[in-house]
Amino acid sequence: MVFLLSTTTFFTCRSPSIMLLVYLLLSYLIASATGNFYQDIDITWGDDRARILNKGDLLTLSLDKASGSGFQSKNQYLFGLFNMQIKLVPGNSAGTVTTYYLSSQGSNHDEIDFEFLGNLSGDPYIVHTNIYTQGKGNREQQFYLWFDPTRDFHNYTFLWNPLHIVFYVDGTPIREFKNTESSTGVPYPKNQPMTLYGSIWDAEDWATRGGLVKTDWTHAPFTASFEKYKADACVWSSSSSSSSCASSSSKNNTWMSQEMDSTSQSRLKWVRKNYMVYNYCTDTKRFPQGLPPECSINSTA
Ligand SMILES: *[C@@H]1O[C@H](CO)[C@@H](O)[C@H](O)[C@H]1NC(C)=O
Ligand SMILES: *[C@@H]1O[C@H](CO)[C@@H](O)[C@H](O)[C@H]1NC(C)=O
Ligand SMILES: *[C@@H]1O[C@H](CO)[C@@H](O)[C@H](O)[C@H]1NC(C)=O
Repeated sequence: MVFLLSTTTFFTCRSPSIMLLVYLLLSYLIASATGNFYQDIDITWGDDRARILNKGDLLTLSLDKASGSGFQSKNQYLFGLFNMQIKLVPGNSAGTVTTYYLSSQGSNHDEIDFEFLGNLSGDPYIVHTNIYTQGKGNREQQFYLWFDPTRDFHNYTFLWNPLHIVFYVDGTPIREFKNTESSTGVPYPKNQPMTLYGSIWDAEDWATRGGLVKTDWTHAPFTASFEKYKADACVWSSSSSSSSCASSSSKNNTWMSQEMDSTSQSRLKWVRKNYMVYNYCTDTKRFPQGLPPECSINSTA
């Protein structure tokens, strides 16, 4: 886009027909940019390893030996329901990590992570989740999936409201982090706006079987695909330091007060009973002085 705009200026004093052509091209690009990746995100690194395709409906991120790639949302948000459909790197994806996460800036930042740890062909991916509040993470929980995440697109969703953060996979909750500030004093993300990010990078020193299986670069480039990003969210304006949800017209955000009903509770239990790989809240070796305080409150933590 930037390049095209500068060529417009360049041609202005030359040929009107070229100007018209550039104008048509520009209006086409702008028209096709509504409600899609052109409108919602910026590619931030990896050069042409990150691509927006199909008029903005599809975004692919690739990793080769030289670099990974990534994007971020144009908007910042303070609470929301964020959905992305992702199709993970197929075949031998060992050593690769595909991410989709929310994060604010600075050393006391808040962050909510989905990271997908690749594996050898036919071996299961691990969905790695973490939550940072006021710069402190160490809240890892990991899961296997009940389907092959490389065959089709699946929905990965964050619900972030003042009550809790819930991670969903195809609408099934896999993790809940409650706001326990008043009872435990554990900070909850509630006043730092976050940006949404996605990336793919190499983490062969830890991702697959704890780093035992390395990346096989003969299979590069490794490509993950993203579709149908939807943020029902409060958009933060840094110029006015205010949230779009401050206005009365947005009081209808049902997700803002959404809690877990009994069906969701039992789905959550089902996933955690059958697919959970790691839970920091049960890792007494790691926390010999006692488990983190929020662990006792998040009963299914
Ligand atoms: C993902 O969500 C969309 C929109 O809610 C739905 O149409 C689609 O069936 C979902 N896909 C899966 C695999 O659950
Ligand atoms: C990869 O497959 C192995 C063997 O089934 C499994 O132990 C491991 O948890 C899988 N996932 C990752 C990311 O290592
Ligand atoms: C909220 O939703 C209800 C029912 O859908 C609707 O009647 C009402 O006008 C909405 N209010 C606002 C402020 O949008």
